[in-house]
Amino acid sequence: MVHQECISCKSKYDIDEIVYFCKKCGDILEIKFDLAELAQTLTGSDWKTKPLSVWRYRDFMPIHETAHVVTLGEGGTGLHRSQHLGDEVGLKEVYVKNEGENPTGSFKDRGMTVGVTKAVELGARHVICASTGNTSASLAAYAARAGIKCTVLIPSGKIAYGKLAQAMIHGAKVLQVRGNFDQSLEFVLKLAEKHKSIYLLNSINPFRIEGQKSLGYEICEQLNYEAPDRIIIPVGNAGNISAVWKGLTEFHKLGFIKKLPKMTGIQATGSAPIAHAIKTNSDKIIPVEHPETIATAIRIGAPVSWKKAVNAIRESNGTAETVTDEEILDAQKMLARIEGIFVEPASASSIAGLKKLVKNGGIGKDERVVCITTGHGLKDPDTAIKQCEKPVEVDADMLAIEQALGLKQQRVIIAR
Ligand code: F0G
Repeated sequence: MVHQECISCKSKYDIDEIVYFCKKCGDILEIKFDLAELAQTLTGSDWKTKPLSVWRYRDFMPIHETAHVVTLGEGGTGLHRSQHLGDEVGLKEVYVKNEGENPTGSFKDRGMTVGVTKAVELGARHVICASTGNTSASLAAYAARAGIKCTVLIPSGKIAYGKLAQAMIHGAKVLQVRGNFDQSLEFVLKLAEKHKSIYLLNSINPFRIEGQKSLGYEICEQLNYEAPDRIIIPVGNAGNISAVWKGLTEFHKLGFIKKLPKMTGIQATGSAPIAHAIKTNSDKIIPVEHPETIATAIRIGAPVSWKKAVNAIRESNGTAETVTDEEILDAQKMLARIEGIFVEPASASSIAGLKKLVKNGGIGKDERVVCITTGHGLKDPDTAIKQCEKPVEVDADMLAIEQALGLKQQRVIIAR
């Protein structure tokens, strides 16, 4: 049997009950499986013959058999062995798990395919989220696919243009809140509480976390059922690191992998309450009232899933690190130029974190490391263009083009 459970007081709720916070203690919920039962289901299942994707793991999802799955083909992203990156930072074996390869260009699609499938199963006709950009882009697409209404609240002027374009073209109602992400989230929580017909799909929704846990499964499968020594992941609202850890621990308990990796969360210096709590060994986070970073996707001061994230890091014997905007932009450019992988600034924070932690001794030289890059670079073209040399404008003339390229003129003999 599968149910929803409070992460603190362990109160249980049916998977078909619409409830976002524990009614007894107010903490957030998670999905709990009876793993012995799941193991039995898996024995009689053909899941291993299906292509690598979120729905390869349908048996691991809290979705009824009769459900109509809302999908755009998510998951199955590349795990790229990155030799140049390894050489650059001084490690033998580094991989980039590139989530920008998902249908709307970010890892959010893993959660949304399951979250919107659940929403439709529950009879919802209107879904909502607050977002720094990618969640809104993804929810707008999956709501369109399902034929239901979508509303998104975003911090005004603080989301990358590509993401705004996505939410708009998919027909979502977009409200630009004069405030930050944390304030926008407060409003959608209140709206979903007050207007029961609106279904909330931020990452406090545990069905989204279930979809995102497939990221952990996939990494192990792509490494031949061996977990890496460490997984480095950008952290904002802290849903994804919690989800990946949930996937890994389930795979471990089910016996598919023998050891667990160290979970390593990276935050931007100006929005780093979780990294701060880890570094100071604190049991609580101190929310950042005015979070700031060029990596707008992770410009979050009061991460809703902080307890789950802190637990994932501590339980796995991992760590957390902060990176500056400058380090993020350098890492973004480096990855694009030496590995051909173009990621948005928030995603590049995992690469910047890798570099910093190898340098300061936080990562051992023999570790096998997977960096998760969470969103595609085209989400935020403005930031990319700003840090590159301007294109040279030339006349439509061979001589001018050769001159601009610094090529010597050659006499051309045309053979007849
Ligand atoms: N990377 C990218 C590209 C993101 O968009 C986000 C979160 C994160 C990392 C952090 O993931 O919140 O699960 O810790 N973006 C959310 C959004 C908040 O609204 O799109 P997290």
